[in-house]
Amino acid sequence: MTKTYARILGTGSFLPERHLTNADLAKRVNTNNEWIVERTGIRERRLSENGTAAMAAEAAQQALADAEISAEELDLVIAATSTPDYAFPGVACQVQAAIGANRAFCFDLAAACSGFLYALSTAAAYIESGIARKILVIGADAMSKITNWEDRGTCILFGDGAGAAVLTAASTGLMAFDLGTSGLDGGSLTCPFGTEPEELPYIHMDGRRVFQFAVRTVPETIRRVLAEASWEKDEVRYYFLHQANARILASVARTLQIPEKKMPMNIAYCGNTSAASIPILLDEWNRAGRISPGDKLVLAGFGAGLTWGAAALEWKRKKTAGKGIVRGIEPEKQNR
Ligand code: COA
Repeated sequence: MTKTYARILGTGSFLPERHLTNADLAKRVNTNNEWIVERTGIRERRLSENGTAAMAAEAAQQALADAEISAEELDLVIAATSTPDYAFPGVACQVQAAIGANRAFCFDLAAACSGFLYALSTAAAYIESGIARKILVIGADAMSKITNWEDRGTCILFGDGAGAAVLTAASTGLMAFDLGTSGLDGGSLTCPFGTEPEELPYIHMDGRRVFQFAVRTVPETIRRVLAEASWEKDEVRYYFLHQANARILASVARTLQIPEKKMPMNIAYCGNTSAASIPILLDEWNRAGRISPGDKLVLAGFGAGLTWGAAALEWKRKKTAGKGIVRGIEPEKQNR
């Protein structure tokens, strides 16, 4: 009997209109555009006015349209987020109401910046086991809600956005995953619920430790997922990596000896959008018609937890030729 895999049928994304440039930030904290661009690759980020679920619903609508299915066909909606609008109901439940996915059951999943990969793997397990056939997976975060705008070590990095993918059962698709967590290192990136001044619900980060963790762990998880899928690194057309810092991506490319042009980037104009970063990037490349049926793709991310993950994805949906706005900047045109 042939094995069933979860395949991506369509993608969508949403970035809020409101821009916050490095120059805007330099008016609030002691920083400057040159420092931020050189150390991170970020030039501006977007700020949500309507919250996480509203962004998620926009991305979801686009993904459904791209997949050419209706919301009623969905069996399950999973939203990966660390910044829900409410403790409950979850973002996935709010999206269900907004788009009319009346048949679906819905839940949120929190794995910080690795959230989209964890949600994809969860969706794949439901599809492979036959429990669900059509699943909407969303990564959405309004990081601005938990950003301390007086901390120059973190406020320069993050932005708001949402990305989504519709998955269905097929003969190829998400061929392998590698997922991992190191709870012992969790203290290097936290957002407490506490009420003490040092425990305000803001991001606290040891940037150097997180940087070192990322440049060590991401190449390892990519190597493992390639081995699991029996793929050579050069067969892969694109590596869609979590957009945390352009220097982290450059380091991963060097370590794995992968040309940087195989690692798309959009960090310059949206910053680190946490669980949304990989699906936004994937959607931009899909909409620009840069991914072709049969392409081998690797998705990889890391984040608070500490968590990491990678997926080997065979792209078999029909080509989306130049639909929608292309926000992307070619990797080689970006300032690293
Ligand atoms: N503007 C100007 N100077 C800044 C600054 C800012 N926004 N933030 C820090 N600095 C200063 C520091 O105070 C330090 O000054 P000193 O040498 O006088 O002490 C100097 O710049 C270097 O700081 P350092 O923290 O070593 O910089 P860095 O090269 O490690 O870059 C980060 C800082 C945060 C950009 C980098 O560590 C990083 O990206 N880490 C990973 C974070 C991440 O990806 N988090 C999300 C994971 S999902």
